[in-house]
Amino acid sequence: MKNVLIVGGAGYVGGAITDLIFSKSYKVRVFDSLLYEDSYRKEVDFYYGDVLDRKTLEPHLKWADVVVWLAAIVGDGACQLNPDLTIAVNQESVKWLSENYSGRIIFMSTCSVYGAQDKELDELSPKRPLSLYASTKLKAEEYLQNKNALIFRLGTLFGVGDLYSRIRLDLVVNILTVKASTVGKISVFGGEQFRPLLHVKDVANAVLMNLETEHAGVFNLHRQNVRIRDLAYQLRNHFPDITIEETEMPFQDTRNYRVSSKKAQEVFGYKSLHSIDEGIDELKFLVENKRIKNLNSNRYSNQAYLQELEGK
Ligand SMILES: NC(=O)c1ccc[n+]([C@@H]2O[C@H](COP(=O)([O-])OP(=O)(O)OC[C@H]3O[C@@H](n4cnc5c(N)ncnc54)[C@H](O)[C@@H]3O)[C@@H](O)[C@H]2O)c1
Repeated sequence: MKNVLIVGGAGYVGGAITDLIFSKSYKVRVFDSLLYEDSYRKEVDFYYGDVLDRKTLEPHLKWADVVVWLAAIVGDGACQLNPDLTIAVNQESVKWLSENYSGRIIFMSTCSVYGAQDKELDELSPKRPLSLYASTKLKAEEYLQNKNALIFRLGTLFGVGDLYSRIRLDLVVNILTVKASTVGKISVFGGEQFRPLLHVKDVANAVLMNLETEHAGVFNLHRQNVRIRDLAYQLRNHFPDITIEETEMPFQDTRNYRVSSKKAQEVFGYKSLHSIDEGIDELKFLVENKRIKNLNSNRYSNQAYLQELEGK
């Protein structure tokens, strides 16, 4: 029975991973600074702490056979708000981890490290980060090279991962579904850009599949590369009456990339189990059944929430 420490486990991805691992024969601990939460209420051992406070973190690392490292300032806009903090959390903490922990590490990076490129990208393709978020993640990857570390470059996530954790409404499938459901209109800027998309529960599966393996190195993880315009029209299958507004206004977010997850398929039999339609239905259910009181609350967007917190 392995001891699994999930650092940053109170977040969107952490919620899904924690539930899945906890349901199997593992001892699970979550360590998190509850950046967006007031409380942590799962029946899982929980330790409140900041990864910048190494003394508080150290005993938990000693306990852990495997560390799943999710703690980060997540998203381009959120990272820009306080670059020094972003570098300290996303990059320097991972450097410290690589120097102070010799067990197995499963680390979440992002396909954003590829930036804007036209062809389908595999793990050896050039990295062209366009944001501080992506460049800190890439630096963190470098610190984990030659370690007992598995690095997942995740596509943009969607869907509902668990019953308690904060849903993120700053992710493209989730936000477009909310707009379609509430205002009946979605706006697509540009629309030509591709994004690799992945259900948040598929990340949890990939982690579970590798708690006992010795695979190391970088793996892309996605389900489907989707053009944002096509995603908008896919939403029409769920909301037949929506208006889709396409505008040629230059899109500030210039990321555009398609990835291949063939390496993960070949090396550890990775297979995405959850579709985009499933994710849309999950978000639609939350909205239509008024499970979220105020969809406009900043709490559901990392950037908006941290901006409010910092009084910017
Ligand atoms: N959601 C996505 O689409 C996506 C895509 C690619 C990669 N990722 C990666 O997956 C990981 C999890 O992302 P998420 O979507 O769950 O984000 P999230 O913002 O919901 O969760 C991040 C968690 O980390 C915690 N945290 C932040 N700073 C901390 C600190 N200093 N000390 C301790 N805990 C801290 C937060 O409290 C939060 O619970 C991140 O590393 C992110 O880069 C996410």
